[in-house]
Amino acid sequence: MNKNIKDEFPFFLNNKEVTYLDSAASSLKLNSVIKRLTDYYVNNGTNIHRGVYKLSHEATEAFEATRVNVAKLINSKTEEVIFTKGTTDSLNKLAFSLSSLINEGDEIITSELEHHSSLLPWQEIARLKNAKLVYVPLNDEGRITVDNFKKVINNNTKIVALTHVSNALGFLTPIKEIVKEVRKYNAYVILDAAQSISHMKIDVKDLDIDFLAFSAHKMYGPNGVGVLYGKDHLLRKIPPFEFGGEMAHLVNKDISTYKDIPHKFEAGTPVIGEVIAFNEAVLFFLNNDMEKHYKNELLLKEYLVNELLKIDDIIIYNKTAESPIITLNIKDIHPHDAASILDEYNVYVRAGHHCAQLVNKHLEVVSTLRVSIGIYNNKEDVERFVFAIKKAIEFFKQFG
Ligand code: ALA
Repeated sequence: MNKNIKDEFPFFLNNKEVTYLDSAASSLKLNSVIKRLTDYYVNNGTNIHRGVYKLSHEATEAFEATRVNVAKLINSKTEEVIFTKGTTDSLNKLAFSLSSLINEGDEIITSELEHHSSLLPWQEIARLKNAKLVYVPLNDEGRITVDNFKKVINNNTKIVALTHVSNALGFLTPIKEIVKEVRKYNAYVILDAAQSISHMKIDVKDLDIDFLAFSAHKMYGPNGVGVLYGKDHLLRKIPPFEFGGEMAHLVNKDISTYKDIPHKFEAGTPVIGEVIAFNEAVLFFLNNDMEKHYKNELLLKEYLVNELLKIDDIIIYNKTAESPIITLNIKDIHPHDAASILDEYNVYVRAGHHCAQLVNKHLEVVSTLRVSIGIYNNKEDVERFVFAIKKAIEFFKQFG
């Protein structure tokens, strides 16, 4: 583990007092990403795929280089990588494009662990198409299991839209085994990898998923960039989700034809500088031992869980999570109140329903505190959190 990993994130230089434990909401940005972004805006700023001049060619090449490296990262073909604005954008656009294949009575499998961006597009499509939204029953711990999945898949299933790692509980979905079940039927699998991509290796061929979505901003990269992966033959089969510049091939008065993938799905001017800068984050993933970082994050998580278990009145909801997310409550203290005290100690965590309200309904709580660990966190950060949470408990205890 690189001891000076924090040095690669200017945030820490400018916010020395902050203990950042909210990487599941957004990760901090690599210096290389910031430099590349600034470089594009300072030295270039031209559009891509349009210009016949040198700087536009340069921008186009840099933009397409990111696509090549994202494909390497997830083991896909380059043309199977589509750039969007983020995971929410990827999942929404895909759902509405795939809805052309949904008929009355079809079933869409989802779960109570889904982030709203994975659930709500399908809830809406089910309503519009008179299709049925089916929830995989969660087990006692709150996990999606293969056995429970087998109970809901059937010949009517058209879509299986699941999270890879729950943003609220950190549980890993056994997606490879689930896909094997799906292959016995005629359905498509969409995986929301927003929370897994920054921690674990995702190989789309090995998992055999049909579609995958994730965001650059959770990968130490820029905001405003998402990825939608789809198997090439499926991307060729479904209609474009946006129409406009750069996606059309031949335009006629009555009917037009569209470009091949991926351009068919990238109408309009994209966030060029951000996609170019995202390449730096992807290269960081390709060139570093991410498995080692992930192991370290899990060790920190274990350490935190063990420290929290020593404190009375703390309820942990996900001790066994496979990702470095710890979700908890302090008995009789509202998570927002606790988070405000933590903020006074410059400890940043998330409080609320984490855009996954069905998780809280399942846990029978209104909201929770979520600590999420990133590549730059260390033992000292965990200790600062534990210290601050003890102070929060002390503070509220004085009021009985
Ligand atoms: N989806 C992000 C989170 O879990 C914002 O916090």
